[in-house]
Amino acid sequence: MADRVRIYEVGPRDGLQNETQPVSLETKRAFIERLVAAGLRDIEATSFVSPRAIPQLADADALLPTLPRTPGVRYPVLVPNERGMARAEVAGADALAVFTAATDAFTEHNIGMTVDESLDAFEPVLARAGDLGWWRRGYVSTAFGCPYTGAVDPHQAVRVGVRLLELGVDEVSFGDTIGVGVPAGVRAVTDAATGAGIDLDRIAFHFHDTRGTALANVVAGLDMGVRCFDSSAGGTGGCPYAPGAAGNLATEDLVYLLDASGFEHGVSLEGILDAARFITAALGKQLSTKVGQAGGWDASTGQPIGR
Ligand code: COA
Ligand code: ZN
Repeated sequence: MADRVRIYEVGPRDGLQNETQPVSLETKRAFIERLVAAGLRDIEATSFVSPRAIPQLADADALLPTLPRTPGVRYPVLVPNERGMARAEVAGADALAVFTAATDAFTEHNIGMTVDESLDAFEPVLARAGDLGWWRRGYVSTAFGCPYTGAVDPHQAVRVGVRLLELGVDEVSFGDTIGVGVPAGVRAVTDAATGAGIDLDRIAFHFHDTRGTALANVVAGLDMGVRCFDSSAGGTGGCPYAPGAAGNLATEDLVYLLDASGFEHGVSLEGILDAARFITAALGKQLSTKVGQAGGWDASTGQPIGR
């Protein structure tokens, strides 16, 4: 089991939230259907945040009930407050993610709260979700650096992660929101987390490939024993409140690395390339990720796969 990796797909949420071109509900659903068909089992589907903050995801209430209910597939949704929780319940959610950060400056821009205030706001949300038996995740954004205050001490990020776990989350995802992290930083955050008593199977990493370090960071996480990584098909994404944040680590690039390194994950590269092509075409873009352009590689024939 140690060689099994969970790929947590954030394309429908993190991938789309920063796109100004409106994407229809039908297109979002068709994208998510392709992600399910590719074998993904954790798909962050949308956000129950203020529609004024993230207009692209304003259709969350209508979208979630239309998604295919496939056994084993979880659709976590982002929830910032009790208002969002009430909406998520009505829409039939059964998994959520709350999101805060290592730095007050970032949470103040993103959700209008300090880190402490955000944790206070999440407490009733996570308690309610726990009563309902939902799976719960907590994000610590800016764990590797903040667009407003600069370098972040790994222990500062981990302290927030510990508090999220105390509030009941099943997993903490440490986010490199603006893509400034390098492998030494990944090792430092992992060491600080395990040193604070966080089990490796409760740690996930969320890398953005802004400066081309995302896959190197995944390798560092794998070497440290972390087995859950966030990514987005087609490498879309970014946070509107994080100036300079470019795309997420692309799921197809992650799948290639894991396949060629002998990790099991249950996701088909061809399936992911299909989903990635679909969503980039819907956004009127070219698929520009590395594996999106080169395809995979069949070691038995030497030929590319899925091009
Ligand atoms: N769903 C829908 N509407 C909501 C809401 C929710 N979960 N939470 C608040 N609102 C509405 C309020 O009703 C209010 O609307 P009105 O002005 O029409 O009356 C408005 O949003 C502002 O609410 P307020 O409670 O004053 O909060 P705020 O303006 O400080 O915003 C958040 C706080 C958290 C709701 C908002 O900042 C937000 O949704 N941020 C999400 C950012 C995000 O998703 N970033 C990307 C993830 S990295
Ligand atoms: Zn992100």
